[in-house]
Amino acid sequence: MPNEHPLLHVSRHPLIAHKITVLSDERTDHKTFRELARELTTLLLYEATTDLTLDEWQYRTPLEETTGSKVNLRIGLVPILRAGLGMVDAAVDLLPKAEVWHLGMYRDEETHTPVAYYNKLPDQCPDDLILVLDPMLATGGSAADALTVVKHWGAKWIKFVGLIAAPQGIRLLEQTHPDVELFVAKVDRDLDENKFIRPGLGDAGDRLFGTTA
Ligand code: PRP
Repeated sequence: MPNEHPLLHVSRHPLIAHKITVLSDERTDHKTFRELARELTTLLLYEATTDLTLDEWQYRTPLEETTGSKVNLRIGLVPILRAGLGMVDAAVDLLPKAEVWHLGMYRDEETHTPVAYYNKLPDQCPDDLILVLDPMLATGGSAADALTVVKHWGAKWIKFVGLIAAPQGIRLLEQTHPDVELFVAKVDRDLDENKFIRPGLGDAGDRLFGTTA
């Protein structure tokens, strides 16, 4: 699927292509899966943060006074539980001052529609930029609902960062949240009759947390 959505960024970085391939290989064990999810998140966030704004910063090196730059934005991370937790460590390593707001959502196995079960967002969104994290965009239902929640919360500038997406999920976000930029490592071929991404990587939550049924 080419970049049809004007705000869709599918990484072209060779390291991302390599790592998402190993991540999706069925032989990859849980430990390696977690490491790769972290590394992919770092690389994707590098691509998703190229337009952060900066303030000039006066400081001293060991040798002299000089001027540098500091990010002047308050950034919030919203991982969608459970699988989004697999992206949080890398994100807070890269953005150590970011606040982490958890949203719990699972996909009903019969209806394939998202069910919200945890929301600890405070009354007002305090952040200038919200990064919603979820490794998988299948039907897009979970991401679309999460984006609606953070918009009602007051978030004005939102980006979605995921590892793997189906064309159906991208189309749903294009219809429901055309203002939200999407950053993903790969767009896969399709969804199957059970709404699993194909070829896919299986269930990211299960593979991260070792709970494969
Ligand atoms: C997976 C995934 C997304 C959602 C994607 O979560 O992490 O949140 O499904 O599907 P959708 O685009 O069709 O909504 P899951 O429901 O398996 O819960 P988990 O993260 O707890 O494993």
